[in-house]
Amino acid sequence: MIVAIDGPAGSGKSAIARMVGENTGFTYINSGLFYRALTRKVLDSGCDPSRREQVLPIVADTELRWRDGRLYLDGKPVPAASLRTDEVDSHVAQLSSFPELRQLVNTALRSSARDQDSVVEGRDITTVVFPDAEVKIYLDASIEARAERRYKENTSGLSLDALKAAIAERDQRDRDKQQGSLQLSEDAVHLDTSDLTINTVYETVMEIIQSKR
Ligand code: DC
Repeated sequence: MIVAIDGPAGSGKSAIARMVGENTGFTYINSGLFYRALTRKVLDSGCDPSRREQVLPIVADTELRWRDGRLYLDGKPVPAASLRTDEVDSHVAQLSSFPELRQLVNTALRSSARDQDSVVEGRDITTVVFPDAEVKIYLDASIEARAERRYKENTSGLSLDALKAAIAERDQRDRDKQQGSLQLSEDAVHLDTSDLTINTVYETVMEIIQSKR
């Protein structure tokens, strides 16, 4: 069974997908980390991340694999902390708009989830990567709630207002993408988590999963 969860940054999808994975034994796959790892690779190469002709050769022969709850880039595990930086945040939405990059990630996601129960979260999981997923959920929240959650995570050096502006800009880029843009799939359950506790969201999601099993 595939449980697909989409939503904007800070909507709670990573926390919920991780809890579902831990409590059901489903493989939890965070697709944003795949885009973040490619972004880290591009930034480390020193090329200009806005120049497609410089970026594509660097990502072309990259191997991405999700194994035992960790992402491997070219055979080496990638520390998640190195991917959750303001620098990666400010480039990832733009780099993830390149269709070639999306192709690479989508192939890696499908093979990572092959033949096993999986919960996969991102922006286009319900619409593009697993359009036939048995469970589809779209988590949403107000920009204020999402910025506050990121602020409390304490992983950013930005003020609350600057975080709000950065998230709004990333939302815009994620929605404007020609491929893989963030969209509410018609057959997804839409949940606004702004005023809900994480446990309430988790219980609701588990009820949806159980009703489909
Ligand atoms: O979920 P996240 O915030 O870690 O995702 C980082 C970026 O990756 C986000 O700005 C958009 C992109 N992304 C995407 O385009 N498609 C996905 N399925 C997941 C993430």
